[in-house]
Amino acid sequence: MDNVIAIDGPSASGKSTLARNLSAALHIPYINTGSMFRATAWAAQKRNIAWDDEPALAAMLKDLTMEYRTNSAGEFELFCDNAFPGEELRSTEIAAGASKAGTLPMVRSELKRLQQNMNKSGWIVMEGRDIGTVIFPEAKFKFFITASPLERARRRLAQEGNKAGGTLEEVAAAIAARDLQDSTRPVAPLKPADDAEIVDNSNMTYEETFNYIYNKVKDAVL
Ligand code: DC
Repeated sequence: MDNVIAIDGPSASGKSTLARNLSAALHIPYINTGSMFRATAWAAQKRNIAWDDEPALAAMLKDLTMEYRTNSAGEFELFCDNAFPGEELRSTEIAAGASKAGTLPMVRSELKRLQQNMNKSGWIVMEGRDIGTVIFPEAKFKFFITASPLERARRRLAQEGNKAGGTLEEVAAAIAARDLQDSTRPVAPLKPADDAEIVDNSNMTYEETFNYIYNKVKDAVL
C-alpha cells in the first residue's frame, strides 16, 4: 500500500481546495496533477511543439524537470523547466492545451512516471482525475469528491461570475456534458476506483467535507 491520499473528482467539486487544506493540516506535500498537464502545454508552447504532437511531447517530458517545491510563501508549487510558472498555468489557453495533451497516451504515461516518483519520502495528498484508478491504485486512502451539476454550476458562478459562461441552467448543462465526455473517454476516464469512497458534497458545507475527510485520515498520517 502507498502512503497516498488520492483525491479525484470532476471540476468544481471543491477537490482542489480540499486537497490544499488537507496538505496544510497534515504537513504533507500537495500534488495537483492538473498543473502537470498544464505545465506540459506551457513548456511545449515555449518550444513551439504542437499540443497534439504526441512523440515530440513525450520526448520533451523525458528530460523536463517537474517537481513540487515550496515557494517563498511556503506553499507547494510546481517547479518546471527551472521556473515557477505559477499563474501562467491558469490561463484558458493553457487549460485547453492541457486538455488536448491529456488525451494522448504517451503524455499520460510520461506524467504517470513522474507522479509515481513523488511519494518517495513520505505521505502525500495527490489530486486529479485518475489517481485512485491509474496512478496509485494501492493508495491507502481514496476519495472521489463530487456534487450535482447544478450545485457545481452554482459554485462556479459564485466564483467566476460572468466568466462562468451563462445562466445557472446553461452552466449546469455544460458541466453535465463535460462529465459525460470525461467519464466515457477511452484513455483514463474520470471514474471512481472500485474501492474509493464517494463523497457527494451537494448538501454539505465546505467545512463539513473537510472535517469528514480529515477525521478519516488524521490518525494514519499524523
Ligand atoms: O484540474 P485542471 O483543470 O487543472 O486540469 C487541467 C487538465 O488536465 C484538464 O483538462 C484535465 C486534465 N487532467 C487529467 O486528464 N488528468 C489528471 N490527473 C489531471 C488533469
